[in-house]
Amino acid sequence: MSKYWNKLINDIEPYVAGEQPKPGQKVIKLNTNENPYPPSPKVKEALDSFNPADLRLYPDTNSTIVMKAAAKFDGVSEKNIFCGNGSDEVLAIAFQTFFEKKAFTGLPVLMPDFSYSFYPVFSEFYDIRRKTIPLKEDFRLDPDDYIGVPNCGIVFANPNAPTSRAIAVLEVERIAKANPDSVVIVDEAYVAFEENYESAVSLIGKYNNICVIRTLSKAFSLAGIRLGYAVGSEELIEGLKRARDSFNSYPVDRLAQTVAEAALLDVDYYNETRSKIIATRKRVAKELAGIGFTMPPSSANFLYAKPPVDCGTLYQNLRNKGILVRYFNKPVLNEYLRITIGTDDEMKALIEAIKEEVKNAENS
Ligand SMILES: Cc1ncc(COP(=O)(O)O)c(C=O)c1O
Repeated sequence: MSKYWNKLINDIEPYVAGEQPKPGQKVIKLNTNENPYPPSPKVKEALDSFNPADLRLYPDTNSTIVMKAAAKFDGVSEKNIFCGNGSDEVLAIAFQTFFEKKAFTGLPVLMPDFSYSFYPVFSEFYDIRRKTIPLKEDFRLDPDDYIGVPNCGIVFANPNAPTSRAIAVLEVERIAKANPDSVVIVDEAYVAFEENYESAVSLIGKYNNICVIRTLSKAFSLAGIRLGYAVGSEELIEGLKRARDSFNSYPVDRLAQTVAEAALLDVDYYNETRSKIIATRKRVAKELAGIGFTMPPSSANFLYAKPPVDCGTLYQNLRNKGILVRYFNKPVLNEYLRITIGTDDEMKALIEAIKEEVKNAENS
């Protein structure tokens, strides 16, 4: 509390990011869904040929080189792309652009009860009413729950986080079709982690109200540069630019633009690393099930797993062993660990540590 902060800042409960190790601290970091593999070798080439003298100039407002690369990657026009400083920023701008403030509407933005925990924070911060829609008991999002419910917009992650489950693009389409007066934000941060994934980008030519949010933090191994983008109709993209230019007209720096372009153009490398992660996930899911964990089927680069022992204690004991996984100390969520898929060696160390902990718990 501070008398210098306004009421909003005094009242808000900010988003809490996953624990970051201290500089120099050695840990196995499986708590923020980063990619365990380095970015494409093309990124290094791009950095090596980057001229530091260019840093005296402001970057291109629209990140045109990234827009072009993303448009090629997604098979759309560059007019359908909007770039920002990480998808968190793109999401924040989308909330401000497409959803209405309480002062102007009684209608809420609809979001799942268990989803990316930044969504409720954004709705508080931008003073947007929200209605949380319960997921089914098996963490499935049921499109019917988003049909016929008055709203000023809809947001969900697909695959969802932290639950790891995905719905088919046909189901996303049903939601968008049934809500033609609202924008449906589909956050596809983890979409790449299914072998033959479908993206809601395929719907944007047909529906003006779908805004797909993408990030380079996960499948492109670039959490460190902060680059996210939106894909949507020209009408939606124009709105996002109006909001951006009322806030920060140079959100993506020159280095990030150079790096992002190189990564987006190296589709072979993207496919190689995501395949490795998918293979490791399948194997680890089986191993955890063998130890007595239960978990929904994952379409993401993490598992949402319920241990056969006390979850909070297991989380803490793994942490003491230098293995960070994500634990949300809230009802229902506190029965599960969200475990990022790391390298095979990291996962081997994790499984060994878990086996030891489960054995200790059983013997105590
Ligand atoms: C569902 C979801 N959306 C968006 C983000 C933010 O990603 P970025 O690094 O692009 O800001 C995350 C990060 O973990 C996420 O889990």
